[in-house]
Amino acid sequence: MKIIGDKINLRYTTLEDADSIAKYCSEREISQFTVIPHPYTIQNAVDFITMCINDRKSMTSLHFGIENKETQEIIGMIDLNSINETHQHGELGYWLAKPFWGKGIMLEAIQMFTGYCFDKIKLVRIYAHVHPKNIASWKILEKARFEREGLLKNYLCINGKMYDRYIYAKLKD
Ligand SMILES: CC(C)(COP(=O)(O)OP(=O)(O)OC[C@H]1O[C@@H](n2cnc3c(N)ncnc32)[C@H](O)[C@@H]1OP(=O)(O)O)[C@@H](O)C(=O)NCCC(=O)NCCS
Repeated sequence: MKIIGDKINLRYTTLEDADSIAKYCSEREISQFTVIPHPYTIQNAVDFITMCINDRKSMTSLHFGIENKETQEIIGMIDLNSINETHQHGELGYWLAKPFWGKGIMLEAIQMFTGYCFDKIKLVRIYAHVHPKNIASWKILEKARFEREGLLKNYLCINGKMYDRYIYAKLKD
């Protein structure tokens, strides 16, 4: 399964991608505003890819690797989690390897991925939770025509501390 883009492709990951995922996820900045563990090991990558393969079978979540067109290496991930077929919504998540920031790659990945999800899965709403200080992330969402719906106060408890999250959403039409 591969979706061809201008700057990158989106494709399913296999265990052969564990090395590149572990290499890029090891950067501290990747975990700063996400639930991605730090430090990040090869075993974390193997467990993550195995989960992606299982989720694909059960359709609880959908995960695509972001593929460098020149090297075919995985340089990021984009996911739709908590897919709810009854209420027709799902939660967007993503990360991009640091050497590729600032090139418009994640904007293209979000546009390709949300287009695919709205076409192929019966969804009317894709939403994302973003740390208010993760400016790059919410700017990208706004460029991809997501709308900020509000601030979820004390939404997450991490290591005993409460954190707020913006909620952004994009509707099918
Ligand atoms: C979120 C992420 C994918 C964005 O990467 P990117 O698409 O390459 O983003 P950019 O570096 O192009 O930044 C996007 C925009 O935010 C701006 N920006 C970035 N950091 C900023 C800051 N601290 N203050 C103000 N603006 C900032 C950039 O200038 C850019 O705006 P522009 O396109 O108008 O010039 C990347 O930072 C990442 O993978 N982070 C770690 C994982 C993560 O946080 N995932 C999201 C969880 S919700």
